[in-house]
Amino acid sequence: MPSIIVHGGAGQWANADEAAVLAGVEQAARAGWEVLRAGGTATDAVIAATVVLEDHPLFDAGYGSFVNAEGEVEMDALLCDGANFNFGAVAGVRRIANAIQLARIVLEKTPHCFFVGDGADALAAAHGLEIIPNINLVTPKEYALFHERWAAGHTAPRTGLGTGTVGAVALDAQQRIVSATSTGGTPDKPKGRVGDCPIYGSGGYADDHLGGTSATGQGENIMRTFLCKNAVDHMQTAAAQAAIRQAVETLAARIPNPEAGLIGVDAQGRLGAYHSTAAMPIAWVTAEGTLSSAMRYTGQFG
Ligand code: GLY
Repeated sequence: MPSIIVHGGAGQWANADEAAVLAGVEQAARAGWEVLRAGGTATDAVIAATVVLEDHPLFDAGYGSFVNAEGEVEMDALLCDGANFNFGAVAGVRRIANAIQLARIVLEKTPHCFFVGDGADALAAAHGLEIIPNINLVTPKEYALFHERWAAGHTAPRTGLGTGTVGAVALDAQQRIVSATSTGGTPDKPKGRVGDCPIYGSGGYADDHLGGTSATGQGENIMRTFLCKNAVDHMQTAAAQAAIRQAVETLAARIPNPEAGLIGVDAQGRLGAYHSTAAMPIAWVTAEGTLSSAMRYTGQFG
């Protein structure tokens, strides 16, 4: 039976308008669920959900991305297809609204898996995605913050902002599992820095026989433990929730202050979510069609 889960990023989310954040993740889950309910594919469902979050100013992806140290947005995205161990990834993308749509183009329209930088933006143009000025990806709030910091001579990256990468994982009626992950990266990152998001097995992973996952949080830590692949491997013997918790706890046991979050679906349609951070907004729709959301994992999926 189809199901979908989305996340809006693991972090502190201090002083966040939680009602607005939850409305955002619910809107994304609903968009994905409408696709599944109409008999659509898991790929179409996770793309629909992720585009909602990329277009939403409260989430660190697309419009809403943090700027890098030079005041520019550089986005990464990954789409993983569980049918045949295939993926499309992009990194350092600067001139399109929806990096996840470009990841899909890489997966479906090229014989390659990963494009970066100007070449990725050129691929987007060649396939008809609209090319936009980078500044269009910067919210007025982020623009003001950058100029404030610049004027004050701050060079250290902002910490504790507590929003994060977005993602979605879906199982469709044909038992296909697809995961999507998209990010604007960490605040004030050095130009050219890439985190876990577009790294296959780290920022996302899917295997129709086991399950799929999407990660969020401190990318360097997540990459070091192949967090998403690790969790799906645990699904050989555990349901999604236990597998995901085990993967995050393994990371936390070995790497201090991991700041990681993970969502997923197993091949039986069971959902999972866990985070080491104060919060991670999630929304999900079960096979019965019930939409739910939570700012923090509560141990219940109903
Ligand atoms: N998880 C997103 C990043 O570290 O860039």
